[in-house]
Amino acid sequence: MKLSPSLLSADFGRLRDEAREVEPLADSFHLDVMDGHFVPNLTFGPPVANGLRLGLKRPFDIHLMIDRPQVYAPQFTVLPGDILTFHVEAKDDPHETIATIRATGAKAGISLRPATALARIFPYIDLVDLVLVMSVEPGFGGQAFRREAIGRIRDLHREIGERPVLIAVDGGIGPENVRDVVQAGAEIVVAGSAIFRERDRLGAMRALMEAAR
Ligand code: DX5
Ligand code: ZN
Repeated sequence: MKLSPSLLSADFGRLRDEAREVEPLADSFHLDVMDGHFVPNLTFGPPVANGLRLGLKRPFDIHLMIDRPQVYAPQFTVLPGDILTFHVEAKDDPHETIATIRATGAKAGISLRPATALARIFPYIDLVDLVLVMSVEPGFGGQAFRREAIGRIRDLHREIGERPVLIAVDGGIGPENVRDVVQAGAEIVVAGSAIFRERDRLGAMRALMEAAR
């Protein structure tokens, strides 16, 4: 399992320091970009994400919870290993968004809300590197895990089969459910509050990795 700490639950006033603190055990950094339209919340966009890069070594896993991923994807500084993930429910055409993301040099990810039928992303599986299964309604950190996500991950895992597409899970993950999602087939686990609400962030990350085994 790979761990991607979500900086949404970090202190935005000292984002880079917060990222540096978790970097030793992070496989990537999960950045939640929200536009106040696709979700009822605002976070940050390309200027903040691009400015944050300096001095950080892990790839960025950028989760675009925005209506127009086509417009904003090209504005991110992309380094090797970065992933740009958009939502199938966004306003832009998924095929065009995937092409736009690929043109930046980033890997392409697709995500879906908990209430969206899993089959909506099936036509794009061969075109993406990653599927991000939401286990909370996108928009806010610290929400309760929706257990139906486990069955969705299992179904997705079966659908992907041997194809080289990663499964990530995002929302409400903690030591109490991380094993279930990993066993169902999630390879990348996003966790925000389970890490950043603790004083000992690295300890919290170790606890998550232990609990997954
Ligand atoms: C929610 C975000 C998540 C969020 C997860 O819209 O996509 O990445 O930060 O936070 P936790 O782990 O607290 O549910
Ligand atoms: Zn996210």
